[in-house]
Amino acid sequence: MTLVIGFRSYLSEESKPELEMQVREAKKHFPSAKIIVAACGMKPDKLDVDKVIHYSSKAIGLTKPWEILIEEARKLGAGLILVDGDDQHIFSEIKRVYDANKDKAVVIPEREKRTVFLSDSNLSRAALEDLENGFLRMKHKLKLTDPQPGLFMILDKDLIKGLSFKGVNQWVGDLAFLDQLLSKKVKIAAPKIKVRPQTVTTLNIDFSFKMMLEIEKYFGVKFKDIMAASKKEPEHYLHESRLQDIDNIRKAFNNYQSRQHVSKMKGLILSGGFGERLRPITHTTQKQIIPIANKPILFYVIEDLAEVGIKDIGIVVGPNKEQIKKVVGDGSKWNVRIKYIEQDAPRGLAHCILISKQFLGDDDFVMYLGDNMLRSGISDFAVKFKESGADASILLTPVPDPERFGLATLNGKGEVVKLEEKPKKPESNLAIIGIYAFKNTIHKACSRIKPSKRGELEITDAMQWLLDRGMKITSDLVQGWWKDTGKADALLEVNQLVLDNRTVFTIQGSVDKETRITGRVAIGKNSSIKKGTVIRGPVIIGDNCTIGPDTFIGPYTSIGDNCKVVGSEVEHTIMLNECRIEAGKRIVDSVVGQNCTVTCAESTLPRGHKLIIGDNSEVEL
Ligand code: DAU
Repeated sequence: MTLVIGFRSYLSEESKPELEMQVREAKKHFPSAKIIVAACGMKPDKLDVDKVIHYSSKAIGLTKPWEILIEEARKLGAGLILVDGDDQHIFSEIKRVYDANKDKAVVIPEREKRTVFLSDSNLSRAALEDLENGFLRMKHKLKLTDPQPGLFMILDKDLIKGLSFKGVNQWVGDLAFLDQLLSKKVKIAAPKIKVRPQTVTTLNIDFSFKMMLEIEKYFGVKFKDIMAASKKEPEHYLHESRLQDIDNIRKAFNNYQSRQHVSKMKGLILSGGFGERLRPITHTTQKQIIPIANKPILFYVIEDLAEVGIKDIGIVVGPNKEQIKKVVGDGSKWNVRIKYIEQDAPRGLAHCILISKQFLGDDDFVMYLGDNMLRSGISDFAVKFKESGADASILLTPVPDPERFGLATLNGKGEVVKLEEKPKKPESNLAIIGIYAFKNTIHKACSRIKPSKRGELEITDAMQWLLDRGMKITSDLVQGWWKDTGKADALLEVNQLVLDNRTVFTIQGSVDKETRITGRVAIGKNSSIKKGTVIRGPVIIGDNCTIGPDTFIGPYTSIGDNCKVVGSEVEHTIMLNECRIEAGKRIVDSVVGQNCTVTCAESTLPRGHKLIIGDNSEVEL
């Protein structure tokens, strides 16, 4: 049979040698085949092949090369082996598989090792392929083990005649081909094939997601439904990847989508108020910049907003505005623009919106209380709000002490029907957490309500005003943990949660040989861990610290910059910058403010004191 070996390739100075090597190999193993290259990117000047078709200077998806190569095979009355011009495939293997399956109509081999990572993210490419395959699975109730191996053999000439890519979007290429085969009930052989060990794909993640949106349109099914189905029946949908991979992909996809959607959305962070429940720490340190795992709470909030593509963030600041401005700056660190909005006194969350009207204009916005932290970020939330067309969106969580929160009552259909701020006799146990999304209708609502009994313009009243006028408020239960860091216990709890799953652990300082460091421990620049010290992670230690000699740092401890801990034991504790602990005692469950000194006095006290010490305090134990 006449055979066309068709390469599809994005050509650049770097990729050209790969293609040339593949071509040499192809000639060696298939000496009588016609070799045709469908190339985009750089124009190839010299390639030792039968024909080169350069169709675009940009990457424009996979449909065009399919059309070109199918047409060439059709003209020659040949079978087609379509190969990606990267060097993952080994031609001796392609030959072996071809020889063993010559009599088959279509051969789509299964790679022995599938590409695991995308070059620009740590998302599992294998899981992404499985999920793309899910569209076929859902439509045809049949899955291919390895749907995109970058190698397809179409050996039945009649089948080639019948293939058509007319009207198919450029990005859907491989799946459109497979869809046609499955619709025609063609039998597909899927023998195993060895590939080169280097299998990191160069495909960019945004490119993959752009493709995904087109795949959604082609199949008329949403990617999120495929992900949900895959989670429900992993044995049907997933080849070998783990369920956790799906969560990572879902989050990244939502971030991608929200980046497309929310570019005009703004962020409003409320960072005024006095933080009375955190005194004495907040006498001098504004509560939103207290560090959790050595990073100010506000930074996590800004990161969550920046992650979904919000570019303009307003921060409402109160009496300690200079402190916040100094720590946060102009936002360039996160590639966002920050505007500070001054509030004379804490007059309520709705008051914050009123004074931010000029900054917000008529844009949709996410309001984020600057002392709130949550595990899962806000991408699902922002995307859902945009899709819902609602006037407002809130996140809820059941709590054992509802009288301490704003509460939402839902009807049988799960719709929000009533909102109340800290009622004495709660009707619901669903607390409104401190993250809201609003359309511009909220401005009118905030201007119409009156101060509550505690003298504040309540955001719950403004939202009730919307409900009373027939406007829609959507809600969702928050995924993962959420904490209002307003109290010391909560600070320690969040510190523990963040050390468990949001922190990167690296050792930059110096560590004496006679120390024992176990678990996940981060040690900052110029810090030194002295002889006889034991550190049991998760622990984070800042820059320029001296720990030891003969010191124990136990799990869930965060130690700021320029601290010294000598001959003491510290566990489950947050220490701000510039602290000195030379107590010879065990300190647990404590929050130690900036520039504090804890030393040892003569009298012996029971071990395990609990300390909440304000900035500049001195304690002698
Ligand atoms: O944490 C969730 C709760 O947050 C919700 O359930 C309540 O409905 C909501 O009112 C709010 O209650 P809190 O009592 O926790 O709010 P707090 O006074 O602590 O203020 C929240 C954040 O907003 C805090 O970072 C300070 C800032 N703020 C607050 C007020 C009243 C301002 O910037 N300006 C203000 O006027």
